[in-house]
This record gives sequence, C-alpha cells and structure tokens, in this order.
Amino acid sequence: MASVDVPVALLGYGTVGAAVNRLLTDSADDIERATGHRLRIVKALVQDPGKEREYPPAGGVLTTDFREIAEDASIAVVAEVMGGIEPAGGYVLELLRGGKHVVSANKQLIARRGAELFEAASSSGVQLRFEASVCAAIPVIKVLRESLVVTNVHRVLGIVNGTTNFVLTEMEGGKTYGEALAEAQARGYAEADPTDDVSGADAAAKMAILATVAFNSRVDLADVEYSGITGIDPLDVAAARQLDMVIRLVGAARLVDGHVDVRVHPALVDKQHPLAKVDGAFNAVMLQGDAIREITLEGPGAGGIETASAVIADITTVIGTMHTGFLQNDAAWRTLPKLPAGDNRSPFYFRLSVEDRPGALAQVAEALAQREISIARLLQHQNGDGAALHVVTHQARAGALDEALAALGGLSDVHRRSNPLPVVSDRGVSELGWA
Ligand SMILES: NC(=O)c1ccc[n+]([C@@H]2O[C@H](COP(=O)([O-])OP(=O)(O)OC[C@H]3O[C@@H](n4cnc5c(N)ncnc54)[C@H](OP(=O)(O)O)[C@@H]3O)[C@@H](O)[C@H]2O)c1
Repeated sequence: MASVDVPVALLGYGTVGAAVNRLLTDSADDIERATGHRLRIVKALVQDPGKEREYPPAGGVLTTDFREIAEDASIAVVAEVMGGIEPAGGYVLELLRGGKHVVSANKQLIARRGAELFEAASSSGVQLRFEASVCAAIPVIKVLRESLVVTNVHRVLGIVNGTTNFVLTEMEGGKTYGEALAEAQARGYAEADPTDDVSGADAAAKMAILATVAFNSRVDLADVEYSGITGIDPLDVAAARQLDMVIRLVGAARLVDGHVDVRVHPALVDKQHPLAKVDGAFNAVMLQGDAIREITLEGPGAGGIETASAVIADITTVIGTMHTGFLQNDAAWRTLPKLPAGDNRSPFYFRLSVEDRPGALAQVAEALAQREISIARLLQHQNGDGAALHVVTHQARAGALDEALAALGGLSDVHRRSNPLPVVSDRGVSELGWA
C-alpha cells in the first residue's frame, strides 16, 4: 500500500511538544506500518523561537504566527500541547471550526470548555481527542470510550495527581508536609508554584473529564467539589497507620440514583485496597461497572515522553479513522442532575481535640447519635493540654456529619476539630478488626 504523507502541527514545543516530535520521529516507521501514514511535524507554535531547546525541530518548523498553522490547508491534524485556557482555547476552537482535527493534553481547557469545543468539532465533522489530558500515559479515556462502551460504569475512583501522591507517601515515611513538598520540588515532581496540585484543582479537572466520559453526561470543573492536602497533619497520618490505612488524595465519581457526584478529597484508604498500593508519583484509576466488576489501570501520570505517547496514540487514531466518523461524537450525550450537596454517603474519619475530663466523650457521641451517625472506631491519646480523639464513623450522610461537627465546634470542651475525610475500604468493620 502506498504511504500517505501527513503533515502535523503542534501548538507548543515545550516538555510535551518536544517529546512528541522526538517520539514521532523515532517511531515513524512503526506508525507507517500500522496505519499506512507517515507523520511529520511541519509547524510548531511557540513564544520564543530563539530559545535553546533540548530536541530542536528541523529549520523553519518553529513559528510565532498561529495563522501559519490555521491557514495551511495541508495540515489536517494539530496537537495542542501549549497549556492554559487562552489563547489555547481560542486557537483550538478556530482550528476545529476550520475543519482540522485536534488532540489536546490540556486538562483545564477540556474540563472548563469541553462542551463548546465538542460542539464545534461536531458541527465541522472533525475529531477532538484528549487522552493525554488525564493521567498521561495511562490509556483510560480510550478504555472507557471504546473497550467499555457497553459497560454501565457507575463508579470511578482515582489517584490522578502524582505530586500529591508523592508528598503523602513521603509523609508516611515520617516527613512533615513541608519537608515532603520540598523533596517533591527537588525531584522535579512539583512545580515551583505547586498550588494547582496541592489544592486538588488539577485532580478535580481530571475527574471532571473522567466522569463526563464514564457517565456520558457533561461534568464541568465547577461541578466538582474538591479539597487538597495542605491541611493533612502528621497526627492524621499516624492515626491512619493505627487503623491499618493510608492517606491518599482520592478522586471519586459516582452515579447515585441517576445523580452525578464528583469530588476530590484526601481520604483514608484501606491498606488492602488497590489504591493504597499506589506509591510515589504514580497514578491509578479504578473503574467499576455492571459487566466488568472492577478494572484498575496504573502507571506514570506525567512526564514529557509519557504524555507524548498518549498524544501520538490520539493522532494515530485520528488518521486511522479520518472520514469514518468512528467514535468521534461528544461523549456527553445526556444531562444527569448533580447529587444535592451533603447527600453523598461514606464512612468518615475526623479528629477532635477535647478537654480531658469525664463527659467530654459522651457529648461527642450524643452530637453524632442525634444525627443518626454511629461510631465504627475510636482512638484516643493524651495530647498536651487535653485528649485527641480520632473518630471513624459508619456510613453517614456528609451533610449530617457537617452539622454534627458544627454543633461540636460550639461546645466548650471541644478545642479543635479537623475536616472529615472519607474512608475508602471494601472491607466491613469486622473484617477490619473494628467490631
Ligand atoms: N509536562 C507534563 O508532564 C504534562 C503531563 C500531562 C499533561 N500536560 C499538559 O501538556 C500541556 C503542555 O505542558 P508542557 O509541560 O509541555 O508545558 P511547557 O513546557 O511550559 O510548554 C509550553 C509550550 O507552549 C508554548 N506557549 C505557551 N504559551 C504560548 C502562547 N501564548 N503562544 C505561543 N506559544 C505558547 C511555549 O513556548 P516557548 O517554548 O517559546 O516558551 C512552550 O513551547 C499542558 O496543557 C499540560 O497541562 C503536561
């Protein structure tokens, strides 16, 4: 079969863009054997073409003029590996409207403006693919959209941010939050400004995308409730260890009675659970559905070459399916309501600092019992001027627990309280040895 030459353009030639060019050049023969197409990077949009680059492209490839890509009719596929919402969003929209296929590694853009971009792709009859935007090298979007197309996936649990997973794993080894974050920065796992990672915002964008694809209903970033790991105290890490658990930043997307619930919070994860075994900067996504029971995908969730492998896989899919329309529709074809705030149910862990005197514990139990929350496990130890109570509840409504904690906060015997963390375990209290 005669080979077809396919000119490809990149928006961005940074860590991921340069890796795409390197991997595409190195694997051009493999791609040609698989698809009959020979891919070539012909243009790459950057800010500063004079910058020194580790893997410089061929002469004339770098440009600062977006029009050279938008108006070149020979370019059918563009990879957006630039980042940010604007100008990247405007560029992608224009390319799609102009009839070019786009693949993107940009989670913030897909999570915030997915609906608008897919509408443009759909009306122009082109593809928008975004595998690299979630967990880099882990092919979870393709698995959800293609391999599990007839599986009713109703729960997605994930560790989708490598930086926070590294920090939490280091804290288990005895480091404070500050020491663990400094180590992550020294090793290049965390940016100089790690806010997006440690606040949970990065994981929230990824969970919005995963939930949209898993449940076929658009979940915007604004619909995801999230909190980060900055408040995790070594006391919580120690209590988790005593409970045979570890603390992880867990993204959870669930279908509950036709409602969608997507959240990202630090959680206590049972050491027997697959997510507890995900250490360091790795990512993992666990898919649960009617026909499959459970599938866990684990691997590197960041890195130039890892992300480039997903970008190239998307480009290859585009050229392999161009003009066929195969699975190019927006994954979100229905609109499910969001689960009302406070209605999500889980076992929870929280910590209280109380006056060390008779009756203090009874007040805590009473505030919980009044809201039908029962205690599954209680740890207590002396803590300076009072007692630290570590409480694990049975399944409870989050809203009811928030009310109970607000009431406890008003008691003179209660000095401090932590935010509740969900507990992730498939074992019952007796199997956990808590009965
Ligand atoms: N790095 C990873 O491990 C990873 C993993 C998964 C997903 N991603 C996603 O991949 C995307 C790219 O990440 P990256 O790490 O490769 O970023 P990066 O190293 O900062 O590269 C960004 C590139 O875009 C260019 N650029 C930025 N703003 C521009 C503008 N206004 N006009 C023209 N060019 C512009 C830059 O030009 P100059 O070179 O001239 O500065 C640079 O080449 C982001 O969406 C990121 O979230 C990255």
